Amino acid sequence: MIFEAAKESLKKKLSTKFVAVEINPVLLCILFMRRLFNPNRNNIQITYGDMFTMNFNSLTHEPVNSLTFYLYISPWHIEKTVSNIKRQYKRFSIVSYMYPVKSLLKKEKKTEGNKHTVYMYNI
Ligand SMILES: C[S@@+](CC[C@H](N)C(=O)[O-])C[C@H]1O[C@@H](n2cnc3c(N)ncnc32)[C@H](O)[C@@H]1O
Repeated sequence: MIFEAAKESLKKKLSTKFVAVEINPVLLCILFMRRLFNPNRNNIQITYGDMFTMNFNSLTHEPVNSLTFYLYISPWHIEKTVSNIKRQYKRFSIVSYMYPVKSLLKKEKKTEGNKHTVYMYNI
């Protein structure tokens, strides 16, 4: 997802920064390899981290205009991740692939993809 989004961003001449957070070292290696072949690699950061506890401010030293978290994690992990985001930001967006964020139900917008639903929340 991050690699396709970064390619689209480059085509549209946007300066969007992408940060992938992964906890599994094997998957991290694959992410680092794939980054090497992405034409927009300078705007992609790959980071080891635990989404439940990490301090997201540590990921960038530049001011951020708008912040979108793209989540593709199991339903039993989503709420812990969203709680951590809420502790750190008042305004943010979430895009969750496949799984809804039950605690944000009132703000939910759904889009049907080819195979799965994508859930969006603007907080
Ligand atoms: C359903 S897979 C999605 C894989 C990949 N991110 C993608 O979008 O295709 C969920 C991923 O979340 C990672 N994960 C699970 N708990 C995590 C946590 N606390 N912090 C960061 N990543 C986590 C897993 O290692 C796994 O790679």
